[in-house]
Amino acid sequence: MCGIVSYVGNKDNAVEIVFEGLKKLEYRGYDSWGVFAPGKPNFILKKVGKISDYEESNWPKGSIAFGHTRWATHGGITEVNTHPHYSAHHKVIIAQNGVMENYSEVKKELQKKGYKFITGTDTEVIANLFEMYLKTQKDLKQAAKSVFDKIEGRNAVVVYDLESRKLLGFRNGSPMVLGVSKEELFLASDVAPFIDTTQQVVFLNDGEAVLIEDGKYEIIDLTSLKTVHRTETVLEISSIANEKGDKNSFLEKEIFEQQFIFKETLKQDEKKVTQIATVIKNATMVYCIGAGTAYQVSFWGAGVLQKIGGKQAFPMIASEFVSQKDFLQKQDVLIIVSQSGETADTLEAINAAKEKGLKIISFVNVESSTICRQSDYVLLHRVGIEKAVASTKAALAPMFLYYLVAEKMAKVKNNLSKVTSLLSKYVNKDLEQKARNLARQIYIKENMYLIGRGMSYPIAREGSIKIQELSNIHAEGIAGGELKHYAISLIEEGIPCFVIVGEDEERKHILSNAMEVKARGGLIIGFDDQKNDVFDHYFPLPSLGILKGIFALIPLQMIAYHLALFRGCDPDYCRNLAKSVTVI
Ligand code: G6P
Repeated sequence: MCGIVSYVGNKDNAVEIVFEGLKKLEYRGYDSWGVFAPGKPNFILKKVGKISDYEESNWPKGSIAFGHTRWATHGGITEVNTHPHYSAHHKVIIAQNGVMENYSEVKKELQKKGYKFITGTDTEVIANLFEMYLKTQKDLKQAAKSVFDKIEGRNAVVVYDLESRKLLGFRNGSPMVLGVSKEELFLASDVAPFIDTTQQVVFLNDGEAVLIEDGKYEIIDLTSLKTVHRTETVLEISSIANEKGDKNSFLEKEIFEQQFIFKETLKQDEKKVTQIATVIKNATMVYCIGAGTAYQVSFWGAGVLQKIGGKQAFPMIASEFVSQKDFLQKQDVLIIVSQSGETADTLEAINAAKEKGLKIISFVNVESSTICRQSDYVLLHRVGIEKAVASTKAALAPMFLYYLVAEKMAKVKNNLSKVTSLLSKYVNKDLEQKARNLARQIYIKENMYLIGRGMSYPIAREGSIKIQELSNIHAEGIAGGELKHYAISLIEEGIPCFVIVGEDEERKHILSNAMEVKARGGLIIGFDDQKNDVFDHYFPLPSLGILKGIFALIPLQMIAYHLALFRGCDPDYCRNLAKSVTVI
Protein backbone atom coordinates (compact mmCIF):
# COMPACT_ATOMS: atom_id res chain seq x y z
CA MET A 1 0.00 0.00 0.00
CA CYS A 2 1.15 3.67 0.03
CA GLY A 3 4.82 4.16 0.73
CA ILE A 4 6.95 7.13 1.74
CA VAL A 5 10.69 7.68 1.18
CA SER A 6 12.50 10.85 2.29
CA TYR A 7 16.17 11.71 2.08
CA VAL A 8 18.21 14.45 3.77
CA GLY A 9 21.96 14.05 3.45
CA ASN A 10 25.32 15.02 2.11
CA LYS A 11 24.77 13.67 -1.40
CA ASP A 12 23.51 15.98 -4.14
CA ASN A 13 21.37 13.37 -5.94
CA ALA A 14 18.53 13.23 -3.37
CA VAL A 15 15.80 12.97 -6.04
CA GLU A 16 17.48 10.00 -7.66
CA ILE A 17 18.01 8.32 -4.26
CA VAL A 18 14.31 8.78 -3.46
CA PHE A 19 13.27 7.54 -6.92
CA GLU A 20 15.38 4.39 -6.46
CA GLY A 21 13.99 4.02 -2.92
CA LEU A 22 10.42 4.17 -4.21
CA LYS A 23 11.22 1.29 -6.58
CA LYS A 24 12.09 -0.78 -3.52
CA LEU A 25 8.65 -0.06 -2.09
CA GLU A 26 6.91 -1.10 -5.32
CA TYR A 27 6.15 -4.53 -3.87
CA ARG A 28 3.77 -2.96 -1.34
CA GLY A 29 1.34 -2.24 -4.19
CA TYR A 30 0.48 1.21 -5.66
CA ASP A 31 -1.06 2.82 -8.69
CA SER A 32 0.74 6.18 -8.98
CA TRP A 33 3.87 7.83 -7.62
CA GLY A 34 5.49 11.22 -7.12
CA VAL A 35 8.67 12.96 -5.98
CA PHE A 36 9.40 16.44 -4.60
CA ALA A 37 12.65 18.32 -4.03
CA PRO A 38 13.02 21.93 -2.88
CA GLY A 39 15.10 24.20 -5.11
CA LYS A 40 14.94 27.11 -7.47
CA PRO A 41 12.48 26.24 -8.83
CA ASN A 42 11.09 23.45 -6.66
CA PHE A 43 10.98 20.09 -8.43
CA ILE A 44 7.82 18.01 -8.51
CA LEU A 45 7.04 14.98 -10.62
CA LYS A 46 3.81 12.93 -10.51
CA LYS A 47 3.05 9.87 -12.60
CA VAL A 48 0.34 7.27 -12.89
CA GLY A 49 1.62 3.72 -13.49
CA LYS A 50 4.78 1.81 -12.78
CA ILE A 51 7.93 3.50 -11.49
CA SER A 52 10.05 0.95 -13.30
CA ASP A 53 8.58 2.14 -16.64
CA TYR A 54 9.94 5.65 -16.05
CA GLU A 55 13.40 6.59 -17.30
CA GLU A 56 15.32 9.73 -16.43
CA SER A 57 18.99 10.48 -16.82
CA ASN A 58 18.98 14.11 -15.80
CA TRP A 59 17.58 14.41 -12.28
CA PRO A 60 17.86 17.84 -10.61
CA LYS A 61 20.62 18.24 -8.02
CA GLY A 62 19.90 18.74 -4.33
CA SER A 63 20.32 17.13 -0.95
CA ILE A 64 16.67 16.97 0.21
CA ALA A 65 13.80 15.08 -1.44
CA PHE A 66 10.85 12.92 -0.62
CA GLY A 67 8.50 10.74 -2.60
CA HIS A 68 5.42 8.62 -2.34
CA THR A 69 3.75 5.61 -3.92
CA ARG A 70 -0.05 5.97 -3.81
CA TRP A 71 -2.67 3.25 -3.53
CA ALA A 72 -5.82 5.25 -4.15
CA THR A 73 -8.33 5.59 -1.32
CA HIS A 74 -9.85 9.10 -1.68
CA GLY A 75 -10.04 10.32 -5.27
CA GLY A 76 -9.39 8.49 -8.54
CA ILE A 77 -6.06 7.29 -9.89
CA THR A 78 -4.93 10.53 -11.59
CA GLU A 79 -1.81 12.69 -11.64
CA VAL A 80 -3.71 15.44 -9.82
CA ASN A 81 -4.47 13.09 -6.92
CA THR A 82 -0.93 11.70 -6.82
CA HIS A 83 1.21 12.81 -3.85
CA PRO A 84 3.05 14.95 -2.78
CA HIS A 85 0.43 17.70 -2.34
CA TYR A 86 1.06 21.39 -1.79
CA SER A 87 -1.09 23.38 0.60
CA ALA A 88 -3.24 26.07 -1.05
CA HIS A 89 -0.55 28.79 -0.94
CA HIS A 90 2.45 26.48 -1.37
CA LYS A 91 3.61 26.98 2.22
CA VAL A 92 4.07 23.25 2.83
CA ILE A 93 4.08 20.08 0.78
CA ILE A 94 3.13 16.69 2.15
CA ALA A 95 2.75 12.97 1.50
CA GLN A 96 0.50 10.72 3.54
CA ASN A 97 0.13 7.01 4.09
CA GLY A 98 -3.27 6.13 5.53
CA VAL A 99 -6.78 7.54 5.67
CA MET A 100 -7.97 10.72 7.41
CA GLU A 101 -11.37 9.54 8.53
CA ASN A 102 -12.82 12.97 9.40
CA TYR A 103 -11.48 14.64 6.24
CA SER A 104 -14.85 15.68 4.90
CA GLU A 105 -15.89 17.73 8.00
CA VAL A 106 -12.44 19.32 8.24
CA LYS A 107 -12.42 20.09 4.52
CA LYS A 108 -15.70 22.00 4.92
CA GLU A 109 -14.25 23.97 7.86
CA LEU A 110 -11.23 24.90 5.75
CA GLN A 111 -13.38 25.82 2.75
CA LYS A 112 -15.36 28.21 4.96
CA LYS A 113 -12.04 29.85 5.83
CA GLY A 114 -11.34 30.33 2.12
CA TYR A 115 -9.07 27.36 1.38
CA LYS A 116 -9.46 26.07 -2.17
CA PHE A 117 -8.98 22.39 -3.05
CA ILE A 118 -7.85 21.01 -6.37
CA THR A 119 -7.68 17.27 -5.59
CA GLY A 120 -10.12 14.64 -4.34
CA THR A 121 -7.71 13.50 -1.65
CA ASP A 122 -7.79 13.63 2.13
CA THR A 123 -4.07 14.48 1.95
CA GLU A 124 -4.71 17.98 0.64
CA VAL A 125 -6.85 18.59 3.73
CA ILE A 126 -3.86 17.73 5.93
CA ALA A 127 -1.61 20.01 3.85
CA ASN A 128 -4.01 22.92 4.33
CA LEU A 129 -4.34 22.21 8.03
CA PHE A 130 -0.56 22.55 8.32
CA GLU A 131 -0.68 25.83 6.40
CA MET A 132 -3.45 27.18 8.62
CA TYR A 133 -1.77 26.23 11.90
CA LEU A 134 1.61 27.56 10.76
CA LYS A 135 0.04 31.03 10.44
CA THR A 136 -0.69 31.25 14.15
CA GLN A 137 1.67 28.82 15.80
CA LYS A 138 5.28 29.09 16.81
CA ASP A 139 6.84 26.48 14.59
CA LEU A 140 6.45 23.27 12.58
CA LYS A 141 6.52 21.13 15.75
CA GLN A 142 3.54 23.01 17.25
CA ALA A 143 1.67 22.88 13.96
CA ALA A 144 2.32 19.13 13.70
CA LYS A 145 0.83 18.63 17.16
CA SER A 146 -2.30 20.58 16.18
CA VAL A 147 -2.66 18.60 12.94
CA PHE A 148 -2.05 15.35 14.80
CA ASP A 149 -4.74 16.22 17.36
CA LYS A 150 -7.20 17.21 14.65
CA ILE A 151 -7.00 14.28 12.24
CA GLU A 152 -8.66 10.91 12.87
CA GLY A 153 -7.65 7.52 11.48
CA ARG A 154 -4.42 5.61 10.97
CA ASN A 155 -1.81 7.76 9.27
CA ALA A 156 1.84 8.46 8.63
CA VAL A 157 2.63 11.90 7.24
CA VAL A 158 5.76 13.61 5.99
CA VAL A 159 5.70 17.38 5.58
CA TYR A 160 8.25 19.86 4.24
CA ASP A 161 7.96 23.47 5.36
CA LEU A 162 9.12 25.55 2.40
CA GLU A 163 9.85 28.59 4.57
CA SER A 164 11.84 27.09 7.45
CA ARG A 165 13.23 24.29 5.19
CA LYS A 166 12.47 21.70 7.88
CA LEU A 167 11.21 18.21 7.21
CA LEU A 168 8.94 16.48 9.71
CA GLY A 169 7.29 13.08 9.79
CA PHE A 170 4.79 11.68 12.26
CA ARG A 171 2.88 8.47 12.67
CA ASN A 172 -0.33 7.30 14.17
CA GLY A 173 -1.09 3.74 13.08
CA SER A 174 0.86 3.62 9.82
CA PRO A 175 4.52 2.62 9.87
CA MET A 176 7.42 5.07 9.74
CA VAL A 177 11.09 4.38 10.33
CA LEU A 178 14.16 6.60 10.35
CA GLY A 179 17.38 5.27 8.83
CA VAL A 180 20.49 6.92 10.24
CA SER A 181 23.95 6.90 8.71
CA LYS A 182 26.88 9.20 9.35
CA GLU A 183 25.79 11.98 7.05
CA GLU A 184 22.44 10.85 5.77
CA LEU A 185 18.93 10.45 7.15
CA PHE A 186 16.12 8.48 5.54
CA LEU A 187 12.53 8.58 6.65
CA ALA A 188 10.46 5.81 5.10
CA SER A 189 7.52 3.43 5.45
CA ASP A 190 9.86 0.47 5.76
CA VAL A 191 13.56 -0.24 5.73
CA ALA A 192 13.77 -1.56 2.14
CA PRO A 193 14.66 1.81 0.51
CA PHE A 194 17.75 2.39 2.66
CA ILE A 195 18.87 -0.94 4.12
CA ASP A 196 21.76 -1.21 1.64
CA THR A 197 23.13 2.11 2.98
CA THR A 198 22.42 1.80 6.68
CA GLN A 199 21.08 -0.77 9.12
CA GLN A 200 20.92 1.76 11.95
CA VAL A 201 17.32 2.71 12.57
CA VAL A 202 14.87 4.40 14.90
CA PHE A 203 11.28 3.11 14.79
CA LEU A 204 8.69 5.76 15.48
CA ASN A 205 5.86 4.85 17.85
CA ASP A 206 2.32 6.08 17.40
CA GLY A 207 2.06 9.68 18.56
CA GLU A 208 5.68 10.49 17.80
CA ALA A 209 7.21 12.81 15.24
CA VAL A 210 10.71 13.20 13.88
CA LEU A 211 11.98 16.65 12.97
CA ILE A 212 14.91 16.89 10.57
CA GLU A 213 16.82 20.14 10.53
CA ASP A 214 20.40 20.95 9.52
CA GLY A 215 21.13 17.27 8.97
CA LYS A 216 20.16 16.36 12.56
CA TYR A 217 17.05 14.67 13.87
CA GLU A 218 14.93 14.99 17.00
CA ILE A 219 12.21 12.53 18.06
CA ILE A 220 9.27 14.33 19.64
CA ASP A 221 6.33 13.14 21.70
CA LEU A 222 3.36 14.86 20.12
CA THR A 223 1.34 14.98 23.34
CA SER A 224 3.93 16.84 25.43
CA LEU A 225 6.12 18.18 22.60
CA LYS A 226 9.09 16.95 24.66
CA THR A 227 12.13 15.34 23.08
CA VAL A 228 12.15 11.54 23.24
CA HIS A 229 15.59 10.00 23.83
CA ARG A 230 15.73 6.70 22.01
CA THR A 231 18.78 4.63 21.17
CA GLU A 232 19.16 3.62 17.57
CA THR A 233 18.63 -0.07 16.75
CA VAL A 234 21.02 -1.93 14.49
CA LEU A 235 19.11 -4.40 12.35
CA GLU A 236 20.55 -7.81 11.61
CA ILE A 237 19.43 -7.84 7.98
CA SER A 238 22.23 -6.44 5.86
CA SER A 239 20.45 -6.26 2.53
CA ILE A 240 17.11 -7.05 1.02
CA ALA A 241 16.70 -9.74 -1.64
CA ASN A 242 15.63 -7.33 -4.33
CA GLU A 243 16.64 -9.53 -7.24
CA LYS A 244 14.68 -12.18 -9.10
CA GLY A 245 17.81 -14.23 -9.82
CA ASP A 246 17.28 -16.61 -12.75
CA LYS A 247 13.48 -16.50 -12.37
CA ASN A 248 11.02 -14.46 -14.41
CA SER A 249 9.11 -13.07 -11.46
CA PHE A 250 9.38 -12.71 -7.70
CA LEU A 251 6.41 -15.04 -7.39
CA GLU A 252 8.17 -17.84 -9.26
CA LYS A 253 11.32 -17.23 -7.21
CA GLU A 254 9.38 -17.34 -3.95
CA ILE A 255 7.47 -20.51 -4.89
CA PHE A 256 10.76 -22.26 -5.64
CA GLU A 257 12.47 -20.96 -2.49
CA GLN A 258 10.10 -23.26 -0.64
CA GLN A 259 12.48 -26.07 -1.59
CA PHE A 260 14.91 -25.04 1.12
CA ILE A 261 13.73 -22.03 3.10
CA PHE A 262 11.74 -23.73 5.88
CA LYS A 263 14.85 -25.26 7.45
CA GLU A 264 15.40 -21.69 8.67
CA THR A 265 11.80 -21.41 9.92
CA LEU A 266 12.37 -24.39 12.19
CA LYS A 267 15.44 -22.76 13.79
CA GLN A 268 13.49 -21.27 16.67
CA ASP A 269 14.54 -20.65 20.23
CA GLU A 270 13.39 -23.81 22.05
CA LYS A 271 12.74 -21.86 25.27
CA LYS A 272 10.46 -19.40 23.50
CA VAL A 273 8.48 -22.19 21.79
CA THR A 274 8.00 -23.87 25.19
CA GLN A 275 6.86 -20.58 26.75
CA ILE A 276 4.35 -20.02 23.94
CA ALA A 277 3.06 -23.60 24.24
CA THR A 278 2.54 -23.07 27.99
CA VAL A 279 0.74 -19.75 27.52
CA ILE A 280 -1.63 -21.35 24.99
CA LYS A 281 -2.25 -24.39 27.18
CA ASN A 282 -3.14 -22.21 30.17
CA ALA A 283 -5.42 -19.87 28.24
CA THR A 284 -9.17 -19.82 28.73
CA MET A 285 -9.96 -19.06 25.09
CA VAL A 286 -7.54 -19.08 22.18
CA TYR A 287 -8.28 -16.89 19.16
CA CYS A 288 -6.29 -17.36 15.93
CA ILE A 289 -6.51 -14.37 13.62
CA GLY A 290 -5.12 -12.88 10.42
CA ALA A 291 -6.25 -11.17 7.20
CA GLY A 292 -6.48 -12.67 3.71
CA THR A 293 -4.04 -15.54 3.34
CA ALA A 294 -2.92 -15.04 6.94
CA TYR A 295 -6.48 -15.77 8.05
CA GLN A 296 -6.58 -19.07 6.11
CA VAL A 297 -3.30 -20.01 7.79
CA SER A 298 -4.79 -19.11 11.18
CA PHE A 299 -7.84 -21.23 10.37
CA TRP A 300 -5.56 -24.18 9.63
CA GLY A 301 -3.43 -23.38 12.69
CA ALA A 302 -6.46 -23.43 15.00
CA GLY A 303 -7.14 -26.94 13.71
CA VAL A 304 -3.56 -27.97 14.46
CA LEU A 305 -3.79 -26.63 18.02
CA GLN A 306 -6.91 -28.75 18.47
CA LYS A 307 -5.80 -31.93 16.72
CA ILE A 308 -2.17 -32.01 17.80
CA GLY A 309 -2.03 -29.67 20.80
CA GLY A 310 -5.33 -30.82 22.33
CA LYS A 311 -6.51 -27.25 22.92
CA GLN A 312 -9.68 -25.74 21.53
CA ALA A 313 -8.98 -22.67 19.39
CA PHE A 314 -11.18 -20.30 17.42
CA PRO A 315 -10.14 -18.88 14.05
CA MET A 316 -11.40 -15.38 13.26
CA ILE A 317 -10.91 -12.86 10.46
CA ALA A 318 -8.85 -10.01 11.92
CA SER A 319 -11.28 -7.28 10.84
CA GLU A 320 -14.17 -9.13 12.52
CA PHE A 321 -12.34 -9.81 15.77
CA VAL A 322 -13.16 -6.44 17.38
CA SER A 323 -16.78 -7.58 17.57
CA GLN A 324 -15.63 -10.01 20.30
CA LYS A 325 -14.25 -7.23 22.47
CA ASP A 326 -16.99 -7.31 25.12
CA PHE A 327 -16.44 -11.02 25.69
CA LEU A 328 -12.65 -11.03 25.93
CA GLN A 329 -11.04 -11.91 29.23
CA LYS A 330 -7.56 -11.41 30.58
CA GLN A 331 -6.82 -15.14 30.53
CA ASP A 332 -7.56 -15.43 26.79
CA VAL A 333 -4.80 -15.49 24.19
CA LEU A 334 -4.65 -13.94 20.74
CA ILE A 335 -2.45 -15.63 18.13
CA ILE A 336 -1.61 -13.52 15.09
CA VAL A 337 -0.30 -14.48 11.67
CA SER A 338 1.05 -11.68 9.48
CA GLN A 339 3.65 -11.49 6.74
CA SER A 340 4.14 -7.72 6.84
CA GLY A 341 3.43 -7.18 10.52
CA GLU A 342 1.71 -3.93 9.50
CA THR A 343 -1.83 -4.95 8.53
CA ALA A 344 -4.18 -2.33 9.95
CA ASP A 345 -7.07 -4.76 10.51
CA THR A 346 -4.77 -7.03 12.51
CA LEU A 347 -3.36 -4.12 14.50
CA GLU A 348 -6.89 -3.00 15.40
CA ALA A 349 -7.57 -6.52 16.70
CA ILE A 350 -4.38 -6.36 18.78
CA ASN A 351 -5.46 -3.01 20.27
CA ALA A 352 -8.83 -4.46 21.25
CA ALA A 353 -7.18 -7.50 22.83
CA LYS A 354 -4.57 -5.43 24.66
CA GLU A 355 -7.24 -3.24 26.20
CA LYS A 356 -8.65 -6.37 27.81
CA GLY A 357 -5.20 -7.54 28.93
CA LEU A 358 -4.84 -10.55 26.60
CA LYS A 359 -1.43 -12.01 25.84
CA ILE A 360 -0.43 -11.59 22.18
CA ILE A 361 1.54 -14.28 20.34
CA SER A 362 2.62 -13.47 16.78
CA PHE A 363 4.03 -15.40 13.85
CA VAL A 364 5.43 -12.63 11.64
CA ASN A 365 7.84 -12.37 8.71
CA VAL A 366 9.06 -8.78 9.04
CA GLU A 367 11.11 -8.51 12.19
CA SER A 368 11.08 -4.76 12.47
CA SER A 369 7.30 -4.50 12.12
CA THR A 370 4.71 -2.90 14.40
CA ILE A 371 2.99 -6.23 15.17
CA CYS A 372 6.28 -7.68 16.43
CA ARG A 373 6.78 -4.69 18.68
CA GLN A 374 3.25 -4.95 20.03
CA SER A 375 3.38 -8.66 20.82
CA ASP A 376 4.33 -10.46 24.03
CA TYR A 377 5.81 -13.43 22.17
CA VAL A 378 7.04 -13.53 18.56
CA LEU A 379 8.22 -16.33 16.32
CA LEU A 380 9.63 -15.06 13.03
CA HIS A 381 8.93 -16.84 9.72
CA ARG A 382 12.63 -16.55 8.78
CA VAL A 383 11.94 -16.88 5.05
CA GLY A 384 13.46 -13.59 3.88
CA ILE A 385 11.55 -10.78 2.25
CA GLU A 386 8.48 -11.76 0.25
CA LYS A 387 7.96 -9.32 -2.62
CA ALA A 388 5.20 -10.79 -4.78
CA VAL A 389 1.83 -9.53 -3.55
CA ALA A 390 0.40 -13.06 -3.47
CA SER A 391 1.80 -14.77 -0.41
CA THR A 392 3.46 -18.18 -0.85
CA LYS A 393 6.46 -18.96 1.36
CA ALA A 394 5.16 -16.59 4.06
CA ALA A 395 1.93 -18.61 4.14
CA LEU A 396 3.63 -21.96 4.64
CA ALA A 397 6.12 -20.76 7.26
CA PRO A 398 3.53 -19.94 9.98
CA MET A 399 1.85 -23.30 9.30
CA PHE A 400 5.14 -24.90 10.35
CA LEU A 401 5.24 -22.60 13.37
CA TYR A 402 1.73 -23.59 14.46
CA TYR A 403 2.71 -27.24 14.12
CA LEU A 404 5.94 -26.72 16.05
CA VAL A 405 4.08 -25.12 18.96
CA ALA A 406 1.30 -27.76 18.91
CA GLU A 407 3.88 -30.55 19.09
CA LYS A 408 5.45 -28.83 22.06
CA MET A 409 2.03 -28.61 23.74
CA ALA A 410 1.52 -32.34 23.16
CA LYS A 411 5.11 -33.04 24.31
CA VAL A 412 5.75 -35.11 21.20
CA LYS A 413 9.13 -35.20 19.50
CA ASN A 414 9.42 -32.76 16.66
CA ASN A 415 9.83 -34.41 13.27
CA LEU A 416 9.32 -31.41 11.06
CA SER A 417 12.84 -31.46 9.65
CA LYS A 418 11.92 -34.68 7.82
CA VAL A 419 8.93 -32.84 6.38
CA THR A 420 11.04 -29.93 5.11
CA SER A 421 13.48 -32.40 3.48
CA LEU A 422 10.54 -34.04 1.72
CA LEU A 423 9.34 -30.65 0.59
CA SER A 424 12.72 -29.88 -0.96
CA LYS A 425 12.17 -32.77 -3.37
CA TYR A 426 8.47 -32.13 -3.85
CA VAL A 427 8.90 -28.55 -5.14
CA ASN A 428 10.36 -29.23 -8.57
CA LYS A 429 10.18 -28.41 -12.28
CA ASP A 430 8.13 -31.52 -13.13
CA LEU A 431 5.43 -30.50 -10.69
CA GLU A 432 5.48 -27.03 -12.20
CA GLN A 433 5.16 -28.48 -15.72
CA LYS A 434 2.16 -30.51 -14.61
CA ALA A 435 0.60 -27.40 -13.08
CA ARG A 436 1.26 -25.48 -16.30
CA ASN A 437 -0.34 -28.20 -18.46
CA LEU A 438 -3.47 -28.09 -16.34
CA ALA A 439 -3.54 -24.27 -16.36
CA ARG A 440 -3.30 -24.29 -20.17
CA GLN A 441 -6.40 -26.47 -20.30
CA ILE A 442 -8.56 -24.46 -17.87
CA TYR A 443 -7.42 -20.81 -18.05
CA ILE A 444 -10.38 -19.78 -20.22
CA LYS A 445 -12.88 -20.77 -17.52
CA GLU A 446 -14.41 -17.90 -15.55
CA ASN A 447 -15.42 -19.93 -12.47
CA MET A 448 -13.66 -22.58 -10.42
CA TYR A 449 -14.44 -24.32 -7.15
CA LEU A 450 -12.17 -25.86 -4.55
CA ILE A 451 -13.56 -28.18 -1.93
CA GLY A 452 -12.16 -29.59 1.29
CA ARG A 453 -13.32 -30.80 4.68
CA GLY A 454 -11.82 -30.35 8.14
CA MET A 455 -8.14 -29.47 7.85
CA SER A 456 -8.39 -29.44 4.05
CA TYR A 457 -11.05 -26.75 4.03
CA PRO A 458 -8.70 -23.81 4.79
CA ILE A 459 -6.31 -25.26 2.19
CA ALA A 460 -9.11 -25.17 -0.41
CA ARG A 461 -9.85 -21.58 0.61
CA GLU A 462 -6.21 -20.53 0.39
CA GLY A 463 -6.01 -22.16 -3.06
CA SER A 464 -9.03 -20.12 -4.13
CA ILE A 465 -7.37 -16.92 -2.89
CA LYS A 466 -4.25 -17.67 -4.96
CA ILE A 467 -6.34 -18.23 -8.11
CA GLN A 468 -8.45 -15.10 -7.55
CA GLU A 469 -5.65 -12.66 -6.82
CA LEU A 470 -3.23 -13.97 -9.45
CA SER A 471 -5.48 -14.77 -12.42
CA ASN A 472 -8.63 -12.75 -11.54
CA ILE A 473 -10.72 -15.86 -12.17
CA HIS A 474 -13.65 -16.25 -9.81
CA ALA A 475 -12.63 -19.16 -7.57
CA GLU A 476 -14.38 -20.23 -4.38
CA GLY A 477 -13.21 -22.46 -1.57
CA ILE A 478 -16.17 -24.39 -0.20
CA ALA A 479 -16.56 -26.82 2.69
CA GLY A 480 -17.42 -30.16 1.08
CA GLY A 481 -20.46 -30.55 3.31
CA GLU A 482 -21.87 -27.20 2.17
CA LEU A 483 -21.78 -28.07 -1.52
CA LYS A 484 -25.19 -29.71 -1.47
CA HIS A 485 -26.66 -26.74 0.39
CA TYR A 486 -25.98 -24.14 -2.32
CA ALA A 487 -22.93 -24.33 -4.58
CA ILE A 488 -23.89 -27.53 -6.40
CA SER A 489 -26.44 -25.40 -8.27
CA LEU A 490 -23.50 -23.67 -9.99
CA ILE A 491 -21.85 -26.85 -11.28
CA GLU A 492 -22.10 -27.29 -15.04
CA GLU A 493 -20.27 -29.15 -17.80
CA GLY A 494 -16.49 -28.72 -17.66
CA ILE A 495 -16.31 -26.52 -14.57
CA PRO A 496 -12.98 -27.12 -12.76
CA CYS A 497 -13.38 -28.43 -9.21
CA PHE A 498 -10.24 -28.92 -7.11
CA VAL A 499 -10.71 -31.59 -4.46
CA ILE A 500 -8.33 -31.46 -1.49
CA VAL A 501 -8.66 -34.86 0.12
CA GLY A 502 -8.24 -35.08 3.90
CA GLU A 503 -7.87 -37.98 6.28
CA ASP A 504 -10.06 -40.78 7.67
CA GLU A 505 -13.79 -39.91 7.74
CA GLU A 506 -13.12 -36.72 5.80
CA ARG A 507 -11.67 -38.73 2.90
CA LYS A 508 -14.81 -40.79 2.40
CA HIS A 509 -17.08 -37.79 2.48
CA ILE A 510 -15.03 -35.49 0.26
CA LEU A 511 -14.70 -38.23 -2.38
CA SER A 512 -18.50 -38.57 -2.38
CA ASN A 513 -18.73 -34.79 -2.86
CA ALA A 514 -16.31 -35.10 -5.79
CA MET A 515 -18.59 -37.80 -7.29
CA GLU A 516 -21.58 -35.48 -6.98
CA VAL A 517 -19.74 -32.73 -8.85
CA LYS A 518 -18.50 -35.14 -11.51
CA ALA A 519 -22.04 -36.50 -12.03
CA ARG A 520 -23.00 -32.95 -13.02
CA GLY A 521 -20.19 -32.57 -15.54
CA GLY A 522 -17.48 -31.07 -13.31
CA LEU A 523 -13.79 -31.57 -14.14
CA ILE A 524 -12.24 -33.09 -11.01
CA ILE A 525 -8.67 -32.18 -10.05
CA GLY A 526 -7.69 -34.34 -7.08
CA PHE A 527 -4.98 -33.73 -4.46
CA ASP A 528 -4.33 -36.82 -2.37
CA ASP A 529 -1.79 -39.47 -1.40
CA GLN A 530 -3.66 -42.08 -3.46
CA LYS A 531 -5.19 -42.07 -6.93
CA ASN A 532 -8.93 -42.36 -7.34
CA ASP A 533 -11.16 -43.02 -10.34
CA VAL A 534 -13.12 -39.87 -9.74
CA PHE A 535 -10.07 -37.69 -10.51
CA ASP A 536 -9.69 -36.38 -14.08
CA HIS A 537 -6.33 -34.89 -13.05
CA TYR A 538 -4.29 -36.03 -10.10
CA PHE A 539 -1.65 -34.22 -8.01
CA PRO A 540 -0.02 -36.70 -5.62
CA LEU A 541 0.69 -35.69 -2.03
CA PRO A 542 2.89 -37.50 0.49
CA SER A 543 1.11 -39.51 3.21
CA LEU A 544 1.66 -37.14 6.08
CA GLY A 545 -1.66 -36.88 7.86
CA ILE A 546 -2.75 -33.31 8.31
CA LEU A 547 0.59 -32.01 7.03
CA LYS A 548 -0.51 -33.16 3.57
CA GLY A 549 -2.29 -29.83 3.29
CA ILE A 550 0.99 -27.91 3.34
CA PHE A 551 2.10 -29.90 0.30
CA ALA A 552 -1.20 -29.34 -1.55
CA LEU A 553 -0.56 -25.60 -1.42
CA ILE A 554 2.52 -25.91 -3.65
CA PRO A 555 0.77 -27.22 -6.81
CA LEU A 556 -2.13 -24.85 -6.09
CA GLN A 557 0.31 -21.92 -6.07
CA MET A 558 1.91 -23.17 -9.28
CA ILE A 559 -1.46 -23.61 -11.01
CA ALA A 560 -2.53 -20.09 -9.98
CA TYR A 561 0.81 -18.73 -11.22
CA HIS A 562 0.38 -20.30 -14.64
CA LEU A 563 -3.28 -19.30 -14.87
CA ALA A 564 -2.01 -15.74 -14.35
CA LEU A 565 0.56 -16.09 -17.12
CA PHE A 566 -1.92 -17.61 -19.59
CA ARG A 567 -4.35 -14.78 -18.88
CA GLY A 568 -1.70 -12.10 -19.30
CA CYS A 569 -1.69 -11.02 -15.63
CA ASP A 570 1.49 -9.76 -13.97
CA PRO A 571 2.20 -12.44 -11.32
CA ASP A 572 3.98 -10.00 -9.01
CA TYR A 573 1.41 -7.21 -8.87
CA CYS A 574 -2.14 -8.43 -8.37
CA ARG A 575 -4.87 -6.14 -9.68
CA ASN A 576 -6.00 -3.61 -7.03
CA LEU A 577 -4.21 -5.46 -4.22
CA ALA A 578 -1.38 -4.33 -1.99
CA LYS A 579 1.24 -6.28 -0.08
CA SER A 580 1.11 -4.24 3.08
CA VAL A 581 -2.44 -3.10 3.84
CA THR A 582 -2.22 -0.21 6.25
CA VAL A 583 -5.81 1.04 5.97
CA ILE A 584 -8.95 -0.43 7.49
C1 G6P B 1 -3.05 -8.21 1.83
C2 G6P B 1 -2.29 -9.14 0.91
C3 G6P B 1 -2.59 -10.59 1.28
C4 G6P B 1 -2.28 -10.81 2.75
C5 G6P B 1 -3.05 -9.85 3.65
C6 G6P B 1 -2.56 -9.90 5.08
O1 G6P B 1 -4.40 -8.25 1.56
O2 G6P B 1 -2.65 -8.90 -0.43
O3 G6P B 1 -1.79 -11.44 0.49
O4 G6P B 1 -2.60 -12.12 3.07
O5 G6P B 1 -2.82 -8.51 3.20
O6 G6P B 1 -1.24 -9.44 5.15
P1 G6P B 1 -0.23 -9.79 6.28
O7 G6P B 1 0.97 -8.96 5.95
O8 G6P B 1 -0.86 -9.38 7.58
O9 G6P B 1 0.04 -11.24 6.22
